[in-house]
Amino acid sequence: MSESMQAVEITEAGGPDVLRLCTRRRPEPRAGEVVIRVAYAGVNRPDALQRAGAYAPPKGASDLPGLEASGEVVIVGDGVTDWKVGDRVCALLPGGGYAEYVATPAAHCLPVPDGMDMAQAACLPETFFTVWSNVFQRGGLQAGERFLVHGGSSGIGTTAIQLANVIGARVFTTAGSDEKCAKCVELGAERAINYKTEDFVDVLKAEGGAHLILDMVGGDYIPRNVRSLADDGRLVQIAFLSGPKVELNFAHVMMRRLTITGSTLRPQSDIAKAAIADALLQNVWPLLAAGRIAPVMDSEYALADAAKAHAYMESSAHIGKIVLKVG
Ligand SMILES: NC(=O)c1ccc[n+]([C@@H]2O[C@H](COP(=O)([O-])OP(=O)(O)OC[C@H]3O[C@@H](n4cnc5c(N)ncnc54)[C@H](OP(=O)(O)O)[C@@H]3O)[C@@H](O)[C@H]2O)c1
Repeated sequence: MSESMQAVEITEAGGPDVLRLCTRRRPEPRAGEVVIRVAYAGVNRPDALQRAGAYAPPKGASDLPGLEASGEVVIVGDGVTDWKVGDRVCALLPGGGYAEYVATPAAHCLPVPDGMDMAQAACLPETFFTVWSNVFQRGGLQAGERFLVHGGSSGIGTTAIQLANVIGARVFTTAGSDEKCAKCVELGAERAINYKTEDFVDVLKAEGGAHLILDMVGGDYIPRNVRSLADDGRLVQIAFLSGPKVELNFAHVMMRRLTITGSTLRPQSDIAKAAIADALLQNVWPLLAAGRIAPVMDSEYALADAAKAHAYMESSAHIGKIVLKVG
């Protein structure tokens, strides 16, 4: 195995063109980590935020972008007992996925589900960890509840629609075109709202309000989300594509006993992420193996074309996930 590797680095904060192919040292595992030979790396919006200089890697993490990958374990660090060389895994990464090799805590790896190829497996970790922890653990979604997820055609949205549908929630979603809305319905949404032609507040209020909303848009969606919630409803914020600052009348929160919360995955502790991985293995991996849910993959780019993949993602023309073919 070579001591060096090909990777894509962020040369400076900026647009997609700041992503460049480079040669780096292959990472060594710390205690409790494995090194994976990357087959595919998932591309996510947070990678674009990092590239733009708005989402710094946590202390000790690789400066290379890439929060998830699939591949084969090639080195096992001290103290790792769950994985051996040759195992096929998909993994949540602290960073560094846009590279031929990446190191990550062994406890953040999951087996490639039966019957799934490596490209699909690379689509799983970032969105499934995020959706499981925010919709089910933090948001407490229950069967029969009305659930609204914004950005239904995103990697996060396509995952949230399927998981919420399979547990028996009633799923409402927003997306920016009729084509995207049709795909969301195919994935299990009861109602997909084209936000360019229809007001989601009206739709949800007519239904009695949402028990839970998962939002990545923010901006003027925040007061509109509050108006769309049923009494005792919960709003979970995972990003602010339209900005985090807004004027909000908190009397609604008090009078209707609403809960507003949120989280980001990347800065959480290794132990917290390992607990999410355990929950996914128990609750979600059997659904993937049985084909009851599946990642929605839009397109595949070569590692050297990471800039093109980012430009495409930021055009928002995609439905589901974009991956980079590495190995
Ligand atoms: N908190 C966390 O831990 C965490 C983890 C992962 C991702 N995230 C966040 O979750 C969001 C989705 O991530 P992803 O990787 O699944 O993204 P993605 O596939 O790139 O999808 C984002 C989609 O959001 C829709 N959108 C709605 N309003 C928008 C606006 N004002 N600006 C841009 N797009 C808008 C777009 O589709 P249409 O407008 O056409 O409907 C776009 O395709 C991102 O904001 C990401 O940062 C958060």
